Amino acid sequence: MALIMVQKRLSTGEACPKCVQTEELLRRRGLWGRIDEVVWASDGEPESPWMALARRCGVAEAPFFVVRDGDRETVVRSALQLIQDHLFGSVAAQDSASAGGDAGLVTGLLRGAEPEAIVRWALERYGADCAIAFSGAEDVVLIDMATATGLPFSVFCLDTGRLHAETYRFIEDVRRRYGITVDVVSPDTVAVEALVRDKGLFSFLEDGHGECCGVRKVEPLGRALRGKRAWITGQRQDQSPATRGEVPSAQDDPRDGATLLKLNPLARWTSADVWHYIRAHEVPYNPLHERGFKSIGCAPCTRPVHPGQHEREGRWWWEEATKKECGLHLGPPREDDRQPG
Ligand code: ADX
Ligand code: SF4
Repeated sequence: MALIMVQKRLSTGEACPKCVQTEELLRRRGLWGRIDEVVWASDGEPESPWMALARRCGVAEAPFFVVRDGDRETVVRSALQLIQDHLFGSVAAQDSASAGGDAGLVTGLLRGAEPEAIVRWALERYGADCAIAFSGAEDVVLIDMATATGLPFSVFCLDTGRLHAETYRFIEDVRRRYGITVDVVSPDTVAVEALVRDKGLFSFLEDGHGECCGVRKVEPLGRALRGKRAWITGQRQDQSPATRGEVPSAQDDPRDGATLLKLNPLARWTSADVWHYIRAHEVPYNPLHERGFKSIGCAPCTRPVHPGQHEREGRWWWEEATKKECGLHLGPPREDDRQPG
């Protein structure tokens, strides 16, 4: 399929303002790269092939689009119609083994969409090949939204072996409440045993959380996502101004030779939005939230925060704010990130 945009040049030689605005709209939505060719129809050339085509199709003014599929040409009169009928449709119909680097396009398509719409869109496209990463309050909101669609989806939880007893109970409550299968993924036994033998059970307090999180979370994440085409997380921008301020609602996540689509439908929600949803829909939550815990990870690396403290201050409190990412959201490790030996 080839997409041609017909723009009009005024007799002054300038592009018509409506054409300029339409081009800007496509650029803002990250869709400009989908236009294969721009052709110019000039006010002074009523018999040019493009003006003739416009007349034949009853299009009174530029800009307009021509969608060429083999011998067939379809004229589309507005950018919004083009997005709805051709760009959105073409993304939804792609049937590649991976999601294949669609994030820019998906971000454009889903811009301004409510989280429910993003979740529905993902499940309509990927079904059980789309996995919700579940550990906290945000993730149950997403599971609640996913369940409401009636569409298939997968859920996994990375059991680091160091979660609070309350968190294990919470995972079980969510499993039963929604009648879902939760794939609880454990770390590699050999790797955990080697780490604990060499450095003990609290090495992260001495040399940072990277190594332990690598073994207990990041490697298992790779296994949890194997064979999946997309995943959904509960990341929000205001969870951590230092590391998540720019989290987009859709991003490419290249791993193992395939590019998964990673969706963060709650990227723009605040903590208050999440808790409003939880109360309104009676969504189960971790009882630790009633004891001052806000952001909850592993037991030895999480503590409650005081009123007024940022939620992230309760995680890895002995480390700088810019280092407070366990690696789940930094992408898979690259060759040059790996520790020597
Ligand atoms: S972390 O990287 O610092 O641990 P955080 O606790 O903020 O992440 O959670 C952000 C999102 O990451 C969650 O909403 C969830 O989608 C995913 N996530 C974090 N920890 C886990 C886990 N143990 N199992 C599955 N998903 C997780
Ligand atoms: Fe290890 Fe703490 Fe990371 Fe959990 S959060 S995997 S205990 S360093």
